[in-house]
Amino acid sequence: SDPDLVARARAAKDALGDRVFVLGHHYQRDEVIQFADVTGDSFKLAREAAARPDAEYVVFCGVHFMAESADILTAPHQQVVLPDLAAGCSMADMARLAQVERAWEALADAGLADSVVPVTYMNSSADIKAFCGRHGGVVCTSSNAEVALEWAFGQKPDAKVLFLPDQHLGRNTAVLQMGMSLEDCVVWNPLLPGGGLPAEQLRDARMILWKGHCSVHGRFAPEVVDELRATMPGVRVLVHPECRHEVVTRADEVGSTEYIIKAVEAAPPGTRWAIGTELNLVRRLAEDHPEQEIAFLDKTVCYCSTMNRIDLPHLVWALESLVTGTVVNRIEVDPDTEREALVALQRMLDLPG
Ligand code: 13P
Ligand code: SF4
Repeated sequence: SDPDLVARARAAKDALGDRVFVLGHHYQRDEVIQFADVTGDSFKLAREAAARPDAEYVVFCGVHFMAESADILTAPHQQVVLPDLAAGCSMADMARLAQVERAWEALADAGLADSVVPVTYMNSSADIKAFCGRHGGVVCTSSNAEVALEWAFGQKPDAKVLFLPDQHLGRNTAVLQMGMSLEDCVVWNPLLPGGGLPAEQLRDARMILWKGHCSVHGRFAPEVVDELRATMPGVRVLVHPECRHEVVTRADEVGSTEYIIKAVEAAPPGTRWAIGTELNLVRRLAEDHPEQEIAFLDKTVCYCSTMNRIDLPHLVWALESLVTGTVVNRIEVDPDTEREALVALQRMLDLPG
C-alpha cells in the first residue's frame, strides 16, 4: 500500500490515541486491517464494541449493518464511523422491514401468530433487528446460530422460526447441527403473495427461511469440492455456513470466520486446506501459515465488493477528519429502533456459551 497513506494513517491514529478504537472484520483488505486495534468476526466485533466505553470514536472497518450494531451497543456519547457509506451488504438488503411486516401478517392470517419466533442473522439492518426485539425474537451470528435457534424453539410450545435473511445459514444450522430434515425447512419468497407457500406447508414447517443469500458465499459450487478432492489428496475442505447446503454437506468442517482461523491455527504443519470464504481472509491465512498448504475453494469466487470499499484512502480520510474534530460518515441508529434492536441483540449476548 502507498507508504505516504500508511504514514498518514499512523500519524492520525497516534494523534487520536485512546480516543479512537478501530475495529476490523476479517474480510477487510490488508492495507486496512493493519490499523485495526481488534480484528474479529461479526460476533466478536459486536462484543468488542460493547466493551470499549472509553473510546470517543469507534471506526468500524466492516459493513453498514456491523457499524449499526456497534452504534446500538455503544454508549450515546460514543460516535461510530464507517469510512465509506457505500459499504453495505447485499444479503442485508434482501430483507426490508416492509416485506418482513407483510410476511408477519400473512403468517398471522395462516393462524401461526402464536407459534412463530423471528430470528435474524446479524447481517440485517437495524430495523429488522428491532422487529425481532418487538416480536420476542433474537439476533444470531454464524458463531452462535445453533444456540440462538435452540433458545427460539424453547420460547413457545410447537414453536416455528422465521429465519432472516440468510436461508443457507438457517438451513445448514437446522439440518446439520440440530438434526432437522430438509422437509422441515421451507423458503419464504418475499416477492410472492403468502411467500409462495401453501398454508399446509407452512403449518408443517419448523423453519421458515427468508429467501436471502450472500452473493460471495453463494457462489461456491459443490462440483468444485468434488474436483478438488480428486486433485488435492488428503485435502480438508473448510467452509462458512453461508455457503449452499450442497457445498456444506461436502465439506469436512463448517464454521464462522473466527472458527476458520482457529481451525487453521490448530492444524499441524503440512495440512492441506481448501477454504470457502472471503478471499482477503483466505489469502491472509495462506500468508500467515506457510507451513500449511492453503488453497481458495473456488477460483471463480472473488472478494466481497462492499467489504472492499473500505480502503486505505477512506480510512485516512475518516481518521484525519477526527483529528480536526470533524466526524464524517457517522452511523447513528434512531433511538426507537435502537431500543428495540438492543433487546434482540442483548438476548443474543446473554445466550449461554
Ligand atoms: P461472520 O463474521 O459472522 O463469520 O460472517 C461473515 C460475513 O459474511 C460477514 O459479513
Ligand atoms: Fe454481505 Fe456476504 Fe459481503 Fe458478508 S460477505 S458483507 S454477507 S455480501
